[in-house]
Amino acid sequence: MSVYSIAIDGPAGAGKSTVAKVIAKRLNLTYVDTGAMYRAITLKALEKGSLKKEEVIKIAEESIIEIKEGRVYLDGRDVTEEIRKPSIDEKVSLIASIPQVRNRLVEIQRKMAENYGVVMDGRDIGTTVLPNAKYKFFLTADLKVRAKRRYEELVNKGIKTDLKKVEEELTKRDKQDMEREHSPLKVAEDAVIIDTSDKTPEEVVEEILSYIKRREKNVL
Ligand code: DC
Repeated sequence: MSVYSIAIDGPAGAGKSTVAKVIAKRLNLTYVDTGAMYRAITLKALEKGSLKKEEVIKIAEESIIEIKEGRVYLDGRDVTEEIRKPSIDEKVSLIASIPQVRNRLVEIQRKMAENYGVVMDGRDIGTTVLPNAKYKFFLTADLKVRAKRRYEELVNKGIKTDLKKVEEELTKRDKQDMEREHSPLKVAEDAVIIDTSDKTPEEVVEEILSYIKRREKNVL
């Protein structure tokens, strides 16, 4: 079987990570959650008490971020749960807008895709990180649907919040991610767009797999 990669981009709450994980498993590829990497840098910057550009760049350059068996490690410490907190949601777009931080993380992401076939999810995978990915998908969904998904995720984790607040936070984050100068969130020219608003994760997985199956006779 040849080594190939799949890029899955889209805004927050479109269902990327849920779908990407299953696709990776089904196709025997490695799942890479690039948002988790930006989140880990944000966590460290908040812990150090400084969001100053120069210091964040230093943090990005010095930190060791690893993703192993679905867990995220920052300098050897498991931060998988911590990076999902609302305090990180609030600041991560700002951190992700710093070009030097992006350059550093993109370098790590490309290295990950060099040796293994990956399913990589993020905002700029199809456009910047892996422009030659064999398959590119852009997942999207109505804001209300995305906010509800995110809200339920937080409530299930025991985090108190309200739907309106979550919707506002997503709107702000999308705007920042789409309007930043350096590799903003946008649809790659050759990406397949899937609106997940009225679909279950299973339906989206099947849609992606059948698309790939039609083109890749031997992998499934
Ligand atoms: O996918 P996520 O919600 O965990 O991503 C968190 C933030 O990280 C998102 O708001 C924008 C940023 N991000 C990015 O700029 N580029 C990526 N490839 C992945 C995430």
